[in-house]
Amino acid sequence: MYKLGIVNGHIVSGKEIKKANLYIQDGKIALETTEFLEAAEIYNAEGLHIIPGCLDVHCHFRDPGYTDKEDMLHGTRAAAVGGVTTVFDMPNTNPPVRDAQSFREKAVYFSDRAYVDFALWGLALGEMNSSKLAEMVEAGAIAFKFFWGYALNSKTYELIYNYKPEMPDLIAPLDNGEVYELFEEVARTGALLAIHAEDHVLVRMLTERVLKSGRRDYSALLEARSNLAEEVAIQTAIAFSKVTGARLHIAHISTQEGIELVKEAQKKGIPVTTETCSHHLFLDSGDYDRVGPVMKVYPPVRGKRDRQALWSGLQEGTVSLVCSDHAPHKLADKKGDLFSVPAGMCDVETMLPLMINEVSRGVITLPFVVQKMAENPAKLFDLYPQKGCLEIGADADLVLIDLNKETEIRNERLHSKQPITGFHGTFIKGCLVATFLRGRQIMKDGEVIGEPQGELVKPQRRS
Ligand code: DOR
Ligand code: ZN
Repeated sequence: MYKLGIVNGHIVSGKEIKKANLYIQDGKIALETTEFLEAAEIYNAEGLHIIPGCLDVHCHFRDPGYTDKEDMLHGTRAAAVGGVTTVFDMPNTNPPVRDAQSFREKAVYFSDRAYVDFALWGLALGEMNSSKLAEMVEAGAIAFKFFWGYALNSKTYELIYNYKPEMPDLIAPLDNGEVYELFEEVARTGALLAIHAEDHVLVRMLTERVLKSGRRDYSALLEARSNLAEEVAIQTAIAFSKVTGARLHIAHISTQEGIELVKEAQKKGIPVTTETCSHHLFLDSGDYDRVGPVMKVYPPVRGKRDRQALWSGLQEGTVSLVCSDHAPHKLADKKGDLFSVPAGMCDVETMLPLMINEVSRGVITLPFVVQKMAENPAKLFDLYPQKGCLEIGADADLVLIDLNKETEIRNERLHSKQPITGFHGTFIKGCLVATFLRGRQIMKDGEVIGEPQGELVKPQRRS
């Protein structure tokens, strides 16, 4: 007898939708059939669609270190409600994940405070930790993140967001020679290298220029963090990847120019992939008057032309996946002068509902959502087929969706510690009614149930 049967639902893969029953044993998908079998528990999914739980490869849960902004308990609760069953936590916490020891300590620390499964990013810092990359891979780091252009605090290795050369305890951003060496080091490990792609020299000069002019409006921010800054960084990164063989991943791509560069590089066989974030897909500069400084993220939400290019890139496959760059800040800190407020907002809970709404509008299909939010992220980060699909033997991570039910995104209903979104007041057709993690229901009608039982997941490295 099976532990759980989820019957009468429409099962969605990246290819198709079919009506069938799923039977689950030991936290795994054991059988898919049109027959009705005995199970200790039966969930009737009549009228519902069942998708594999989503993977969000880009989350800043701020824990440990900045837990007034977010923490693992709140962040993963938001993930569970948002249909995300595996989160990848970014390494820019305090302490940061910069060697095997800090990796293991974070994994242990998260082990009783994660409502969903989690993978951990490692930081690539250049020569400060180049000798530690291999041991982080060995420990199970999902990939490396390089915050290109950011300075570091020499004592804590914290990232410095708005660096000024006169700051104390400073390690200045790496120059291109050092970055090239970093690419070589990561290439040796075979792991993926994700980069923040904004050329900091250009951003600094352009920011000074607009600040001198006295402008503080949204178009001034876009001039300061221009498309050119992203283009220059991506171009250099692709050139480095071509020569070193490092598997390059462009985080949160935001420009048409960037998409074109990635597309060309892929055509030439250079190992480069990219992702886009829900705020870049669902907002553009025209929304600033309504949303205000909450909308500030790095790289910024840009104009309609760029937004359209991201959708096209996603549709034609240049962009592999959709993620959140969930990066909360204190609500009070997000008010005020646009150039002074910190960049980042909540997205982990809303990204799947926003995509489902596009399905309801007939813009995309459910299999497309499964490809971009489950299959492709699992494949790219070597977690497939444990995660990202509902094949026999896969973890029974699934999300049940009622496409006929409507809901509204409201800040006060979000589960993050600082529930701030650019999507407050957005109506969504299609409601997430249940989430299962390894065969156990963890969300019912928008609320988390049970204790945190998320586990660390490690990539199954390619040989
Ligand atoms: O908007 C952002 N916020 N972009 C980043 O790259 C970092 C993030 C953060 O950590 O606040
Ligand atoms: Zn980020």
